[in-house]
Amino acid sequence: MAEYPFITIQDKQYPLYGLGTTVFWNGCPEAEDAYASVISDGLVNMIDCAEMYGDGRCEEAVGRILKRTGRDRVYLVDKILPDNAVPGQFMKSLKQSLKRVGTDHFDLYLLHWREKADLPFVIDSMERAVKEGLIRHWGVSNFDVKDMEDLFACEGGRGCAADQVMYNLGTRGIEYDLLPWLKTNGVLPMSYSTLGSSQLDTRQVVADSPVVRRICGEMQVSPSALMLAFALRNRDICTLFSSRSECHIRENLAGAAKVSEKVLEMLDEAFPAPAEKTPLAKL
Ligand SMILES: NC(=O)c1ccc[n+]([C@@H]2O[C@H](COP(=O)([O-])OP(=O)(O)OC[C@H]3O[C@@H](n4cnc5c(N)ncnc54)[C@H](OP(=O)(O)O)[C@@H]3O)[C@@H](O)[C@H]2O)c1
Repeated sequence: MAEYPFITIQDKQYPLYGLGTTVFWNGCPEAEDAYASVISDGLVNMIDCAEMYGDGRCEEAVGRILKRTGRDRVYLVDKILPDNAVPGQFMKSLKQSLKRVGTDHFDLYLLHWREKADLPFVIDSMERAVKEGLIRHWGVSNFDVKDMEDLFACEGGRGCAADQVMYNLGTRGIEYDLLPWLKTNGVLPMSYSTLGSSQLDTRQVVADSPVVRRICGEMQVSPSALMLAFALRNRDICTLFSSRSECHIRENLAGAAKVSEKVLEMLDEAFPAPAEKTPLAKL
């Protein structure tokens, strides 16, 4: 993995960025081509998926992409639904996901959200899956500070490697408390909806801002590239983004690489982090 940018936490290396897979929810062959192409070209080495996405169809799409790129060059993240993280179902769900993707292990396996999950059971099951070689590391998603504290209070909870949460230029609530908490406790922060998602107003709010319009005009980059650059600015958040377009993926990465410190400061001023606790944003 060394030739790709990565984040090191407690001697473990994680890719700095990767591609999400909700674009495959209703089938999207052109996005499969796009993902296979940018992975084969060495631009990206991580894919994030979940059993929930399209009821397994997105995992199947990932399987087809991996057949083209090879499994070894991709860091694979997958997620289990809280409804399936229960006795008698956990291992079954995990094995079904592995089968759909066509791999013998995930690099990182997350509890998709907390809901009524029995945390001690989840921890035991995740650790068992690690011992059986079905997953390398485990983590959670959509956990706020209180949820993380509850998790860490459970025996083995400190084995949690990552927390995947919504974070973008227009949604910076985690900077107030969750992000510092994760850093202090050696947990990898992962961002989703980094480009504002297609389902949120945030994309448009950012794109319509006079500062963003001016920067985009001057630099000839898209608002998406600016949002990607912003999430990557400290190289401390594993950043997920998605697009069905190969052109957009390439533009985003190339555009983000051009963004200067000064521009990042302007974005920071235009969309400041909240100065007080805000509830964790979720899709
Ligand atoms: N853990 C969770 O609960 C959770 C929740 C949501 C998402 N996720 C994960 O995070 C991944 C990414 O988040 P997301 O899917 O919410 O969305 P996102 O990456 O924030 O945004 C995707 C949208 O950005 C557009 N886009 C990308 N580049 C663009 C460009 N250069 N110009 C114009 N539009 C552009 C895409 O349209 P085009 O396709 O047209 O480029 C798409 O509509 C997901 O796929 C999923 O894997 C996790």
